[in-house]
Amino acid sequence: EKGGWPSFMAKEVAEQPDAVANTIRGRVQGDQVVIPELDGLDELFIGIDRVIITACGTASYAALVGKYAIEQWARVPVDVELAHEFRYRDPVIGDKTLVISISQSGETMDTLMAVKYARERGARTLSVCNTQGATIPRESDAVVYTHAGPEVAVASTKAFSAQITALLLLGLHMGRVRGSLSDSAASDVAELQALPEKIAQVLAEEQEHVAQLAGWMADTRSVLFLGRHVGYPIALEGALKLKEISYIHAEGFAAGELKHGPIALIEPGQPVFVIVPSPRHSALVHSKVVSNIQEIRARGARVIVIAEEGDAAVLPFADEVIRIPLTGAMFEPVLAVVPLQIFAMALATAKGLDVDQPRNLAKSVTVE
Ligand code: BG6
Repeated sequence: EKGGWPSFMAKEVAEQPDAVANTIRGRVQGDQVVIPELDGLDELFIGIDRVIITACGTASYAALVGKYAIEQWARVPVDVELAHEFRYRDPVIGDKTLVISISQSGETMDTLMAVKYARERGARTLSVCNTQGATIPRESDAVVYTHAGPEVAVASTKAFSAQITALLLLGLHMGRVRGSLSDSAASDVAELQALPEKIAQVLAEEQEHVAQLAGWMADTRSVLFLGRHVGYPIALEGALKLKEISYIHAEGFAAGELKHGPIALIEPGQPVFVIVPSPRHSALVHSKVVSNIQEIRARGARVIVIAEEGDAAVLPFADEVIRIPLTGAMFEPVLAVVPLQIFAMALATAKGLDVDQPRNLAKSVTVE
């Protein structure tokens, strides 16, 4: 039931504080992450020398955020591979490889086949899934459920933020078990727990602003998204949301790639969203993104910036600034994606489209 919301997608976007809180619940003890479902797997986490995360669509972008977090905290190399690519080549995997699959439905055929393939090759398998008892978790050695609740709209929103949350939890859990966490881990756990409230703040403060932006962009034919570090997967997700429900050409890029090609696309009036990482985490990375903004602005781009509160460096070059609260470096994606979801939804609505049932797409693709 939509419960008074104009669409399931609107309802599910609004439910994100709960989706994230419910995914964290029961998995923090004191200032540490302890995922009870993973009890007994310490040896596995210590023994692996490699992680491959496999998924499709939106879940594959959550996987990319997971790569940054797991490498940072658990100090084990992580690759992300689309499920349908992974199983049609000859990947180097064995019993020291952990293959993590991510799937909202737990039924996506491409992802399921990748999990089976990994198992046949002797890898250990762990799934991150939103649907209790679905096929993928049943085919995996272990499962960490996201507790986003049922997601009805075809375009994934709350399942995505819950997937990132589960991967952040997993990274902190693995880091603890492997003894690789730094002294700042306790503050990371605190940041994780503060996320639901901060998502609620983004919803309360930016919803109308972003919806207005979409209003004046209803005739736009193409939108670009730039991000760096964990903002890069969010650029990809922002573009995917727009393609899926607004049928507008959209591309997400790693901001550093700009000068290697995409900058040729910039012409006067081209809307570009830029996800700006906090200067508190890395002044260098922040300054690189600010200079990317200057470069596209100088070529006439219409720049919409998503930046943390108080970041004044972006102001001289931005046409619009969307603010997110201060958080830890790994947690920014969960906040930055929210305005992009709202934007895609508002643009689809402005075009008179059905945001819940986009053309040609299915919620769960159970064929290859
Ligand atoms: C696609 C859906 O077909 O499958 C996407 O349209 C989704 O929204 C992708 O991200 C993966 O689905 P799942 O259920 O495996 O997370």
